[in-house]
Amino acid sequence: MNSIPEDVKRTAVEKSYLTPEMAISDEGVGIDLFINAMDTTAGERQGVDCIFGVYPAELKAIQDWVSVLAPAGRLTLVCPVEDHPKTIWLEMAGLVNRLTWEVDGWWVLTGCKRVPARESVQQAYSAKALSQSGCDCGCTDGGCCSPGEVSLESLGSVEWVGGYSDAEVAEVPAEAAEFSLGCGNPIGMAGIKPGETVLDIGSGGGLDVFLAAKRAGPSGHAIGVDMTPAMLQRARNSAKRAGITNVTFRHGFAEHLPVEDSSVDVIISNCVINLAEDKGKVFAEAYRVIKPGGRLEVNDMVFGGPVPQGIRTSKAGWSECISGALPEQEYVDLVRQAGFSDVRVTRSTSHGEASGVPVYSVQVSAKKD
Ligand SMILES: C[S@@+](CC[C@H](N)C(=O)[O-])C[C@H]1O[C@@H](n2cnc3c(N)ncnc32)[C@H](O)[C@@H]1O
Repeated sequence: MNSIPEDVKRTAVEKSYLTPEMAISDEGVGIDLFINAMDTTAGERQGVDCIFGVYPAELKAIQDWVSVLAPAGRLTLVCPVEDHPKTIWLEMAGLVNRLTWEVDGWWVLTGCKRVPARESVQQAYSAKALSQSGCDCGCTDGGCCSPGEVSLESLGSVEWVGGYSDAEVAEVPAEAAEFSLGCGNPIGMAGIKPGETVLDIGSGGGLDVFLAAKRAGPSGHAIGVDMTPAMLQRARNSAKRAGITNVTFRHGFAEHLPVEDSSVDVIISNCVINLAEDKGKVFAEAYRVIKPGGRLEVNDMVFGGPVPQGIRTSKAGWSECISGALPEQEYVDLVRQAGFSDVRVTRSTSHGEASGVPVYSVQVSAKKD
């Protein structure tokens, strides 16, 4: 095999978001030059946090590597372009958030081992939906992605700020306005016009759906999709009581949207995609359902750098919209590789830190050509 160029190794390391406590295994890539400042001992935890390998000739070799990865662990592979790696193998081996780059005639591919978080996230949001205020999970002062400070003891703290104007709050049913669990305001940037169809991924109590429906007017429509039945019930009840008819709330998952291909003008989402186990699949689904010329306007939590493994596997941290958050650059790479163009990122209203790493909300705007 050709020797692996330095730029390829550098990209492989850069896109693996290593942290000093990670257990790293190098299966012949030769990344030592780039990680010599790191302690690569396994520490107390089970499993390997990152494996670097050369793309193998057999799926079985990928499966073997994945079997020794810790949850949230990453497999990073390199391969000469002419060898055409079968990217489907990363999916078949159960890896999520899969990405590829072409560097100097080589492919660099990464994917992470799934952290099974959906069930506990759903339980947490069911409890919130059934509570009055949205805080029913042991957090303090609002918390749980609602205005106020959340202390996550071992993880850190975040100040959640929704960023809605008084005029916006006055536009929607009070019960929905008071039940905001977001980390920003995706409507502000969405420029929704009368007659448009808007989809809100992870619609919760319906606040952003009601704001979108107001802007889309009687000739437009807003659809909310949420995986938590109690959330849907709450939003449907609010719509019924307020007599709002140009909204629909559907049960479904961000990774498998119950929405037709090319049927939506604008997708919004507020502090939800971080909760999905496979963000790459969510952006691929978003791309599928948006009409050509349509736009994506999502608000979400991201990290300002690599995320320590201890954060990425915390159950409580997932429900709090922190542990599932990705490094900002990885999030943007996933949006781009789903097919979106003109991807722009601006800082939004929530911010804090976890294990010393800045974590904050961003508004990500993009288009489908
Ligand atoms: C932090 S709350 C935000 C709710 C709403 N967007 C807001 O701003 O108030 C997250 C919501 O996303 C839903 N959710 C989480 N993961 C999801 C997934 N994979 N698919 C669909 N809904 C999801 C939860 O049920 C919950 O209602």
